[in-house]
Amino acid sequence: MLKPTNVSSYLKAANQVVSNNIKPLHPNAVIPTKWVTPTPQLCLTSFTLSKSLPLGNVQITSGPAVSTQVRWAHTDINVPDWSQYRRDSVKSPSAKNTDSEDNRKNFTYLVAGAGTVVSAYAAKALVTQFITSMSATADVLALAKIEIKLAEIPEGKSVTFKWRGKPLFIRHRTPEEIATEQGVNVSSLRDPQHDNDRVQKPEWLVILGVCTHLGCVPIANAGDWGGYYCPCHGSHYDASGRIRKGPAPLNLEVPFYEFPDESTLIVG
Ligand code: FES
Repeated sequence: MLKPTNVSSYLKAANQVVSNNIKPLHPNAVIPTKWVTPTPQLCLTSFTLSKSLPLGNVQITSGPAVSTQVRWAHTDINVPDWSQYRRDSVKSPSAKNTDSEDNRKNFTYLVAGAGTVVSAYAAKALVTQFITSMSATADVLALAKIEIKLAEIPEGKSVTFKWRGKPLFIRHRTPEEIATEQGVNVSSLRDPQHDNDRVQKPEWLVILGVCTHLGCVPIANAGDWGGYYCPCHGSHYDASGRIRKGPAPLNLEVPFYEFPDESTLIVG
């Protein structure tokens, strides 16, 4: 059993006193009610900016930045062996660092190259996704095309459809109309264009029903040439949609169209 005056090494308290060089530090220790004999051990070294009181096998550390501590040293700590995780080229203490330099450079280049490839693919996917998001949606594209069953348009008739907010004229021309339009002297036209350059199949004329003067909708099967007539200011178009008389400067526009089969026409 130790007396209280001799067991100051077994302290458990928090010291609120700031020590100085004029007056030695007297830690405010709370003496435990049950006294035990401490096991002789080695002292730890205090790394704090504090004042230490070496008391036999126990060290008390106190100071402005720490609370009072009482420590016993540990001597049973084993340092692990990390050699199995080290490269073979650096295990030998006599080996020079330059011996493994090439291997390390190759590994560094490999990692840098792989990172560059992955970054390039990620950037490509990002740009592609961004550009795709700016294109027209599926419902908008669906409205951009119109499919027409040709069997519903009898010969000699011109039918008007609505396409992209504009009138679309589909004319099923007769053999006489075809022969007449193909025999026109192109040099006599205001907007010279041969009939063969305006149609894909001679019997089918596909044009926009927008007058090239100020945008009125011409009337089909009317006018001096039996093609289209614009009543707004008196423009006459023939059965190929070419301007023949009146203030309109150009022929009626031919949109993009195609025939996926013999009985179907797709415009747009
Ligand atoms: Fe057709 Fe003027 S708009 S002739």
